[in-house]
Amino acid sequence: MKITVIGCGYLGATHAACLASLGFEVLGVEIDPARRSALERGVLPFFEPDLPELLVEQVESGRLRFTDDMAEAAAFGDVHFVCVGTPQRADGMGADLSYVEGAVAALAPYLDRPTLVVGKSTVPVGTAERLQEILRTTAPAGEAVEVAWNPEFLREGFAVKDTIEPDRLVLGVLSERAEALLREVYAQPIAGGCPVIVTDFPTAELVKVAANSFLATKISFINAMAELCDVTGADVVTLADAIGFDARIGRRFLNAGVGFGGGCLPKDIRAFRARAEELGVKDALRFLHEIDRINIRRRKRVIKIARAELGGRLPGKRVAVLGAAFKPNSDDIRDSPALEIAATLHEKGVRVVVHDPEAIPPARKKHPELEYADTIEAACEGADLVLHLTEWLEYRSVDPVALGAVVAGKRMIDGRNCLDLAAYADAGWTVRSLGRPTVG
Ligand code: UDX
Repeated sequence: MKITVIGCGYLGATHAACLASLGFEVLGVEIDPARRSALERGVLPFFEPDLPELLVEQVESGRLRFTDDMAEAAAFGDVHFVCVGTPQRADGMGADLSYVEGAVAALAPYLDRPTLVVGKSTVPVGTAERLQEILRTTAPAGEAVEVAWNPEFLREGFAVKDTIEPDRLVLGVLSERAEALLREVYAQPIAGGCPVIVTDFPTAELVKVAANSFLATKISFINAMAELCDVTGADVVTLADAIGFDARIGRRFLNAGVGFGGGCLPKDIRAFRARAEELGVKDALRFLHEIDRINIRRRKRVIKIARAELGGRLPGKRVAVLGAAFKPNSDDIRDSPALEIAATLHEKGVRVVVHDPEAIPPARKKHPELEYADTIEAACEGADLVLHLTEWLEYRSVDPVALGAVVAGKRMIDGRNCLDLAAYADAGWTVRSLGRPTVG
């Protein structure tokens, strides 16, 4: 079986390299010439642990190639995975489906034999059925071109592991043939015990947005508890530990802090609400508006605490921001709480110096007005306040005594609630947390 992967961004590049590593011949279709030529040279245009090595290995083995030619892709593939993006629409709510529809429309005229077109992008429920209709009417092979929906749940930072050893596989299919083909693609994870859920299109589409909405809800729930902790003197980390021991709740995704960002959770909950409204069930997802609002409040809360820590006035102050990526082990700055907080402080007249182990190049591109430093020490030199906003492991291993020697004021806001507060207090720091009592 030969496989094509259409769209080699984050999801597609990972999927293509992982399928090649499982032994398939894979052709990646990428229309951006710079991205394609980087991938052809085995160079990954973004940061993702373990993926660069895998990409080089698969390109060198000859199992993985890239093209921009849909005719070539159609001739090559028995199964086509559609992995293009579904960004937020300009209205800030629904998903922009032009890339998904464009990819399918470009492929369709060349599909002259039985093929399976598998959607992996996160889409509004109802999309798979529409794509099936487009293919049925525009592909020369007509009815013999089938759509399947196979949502992707990979997390940035764990993309390779999540693809090769997924928690579960969801297969939205219309026929046994489609199911059999997908079971063949995923034979290895299935043999390893990965649960397979075979279902219809709308359920498969909804699983993805439901999962992301649940995760966003869990994070905003604990962040709402952090607001309560702040006014009562309670500790949200202890609270999360205590409720997390209940197996029905679970401790994961209960870390309070600056909230969620990235290319998925914020846009997915907005697009899901927009779709519910179109479907006439607006009220069912009204709570997601509140989840979004709680999340946005986190960023404002940090600015408010920073102002208080800096004596009520921001202009002319010097602040070090540790972290620019939306989460550690990623160079993704999309909707990053850390970077938004840094930019807001700058707008308010603060001299902000940002550090991040991986995300400085994209951050500099988006926010050239900010200053950037290559080391933690350089970022913190002379700072009146340090903000810890992305929980990279190396920030946790900083020695508070050594850091205290370079700053102007030993004041820290721990926006991720994971620093060793006692060690900072012992070193003479005052640490403000989000939902925990202040130390020092
Ligand atoms: C998410 C989903 O986890 C993944 O299944 C889906 O395929 C894509 O969207 P990702 O965006 O890579 O993955 O990041 P994730 O690890 O889910 O974190 C999302 C955001 O939530 C980050 O900003 C992170 O810092 C934040 N977060 C996570 C918290 O604030 N607290 C937590 O307890 C967990």
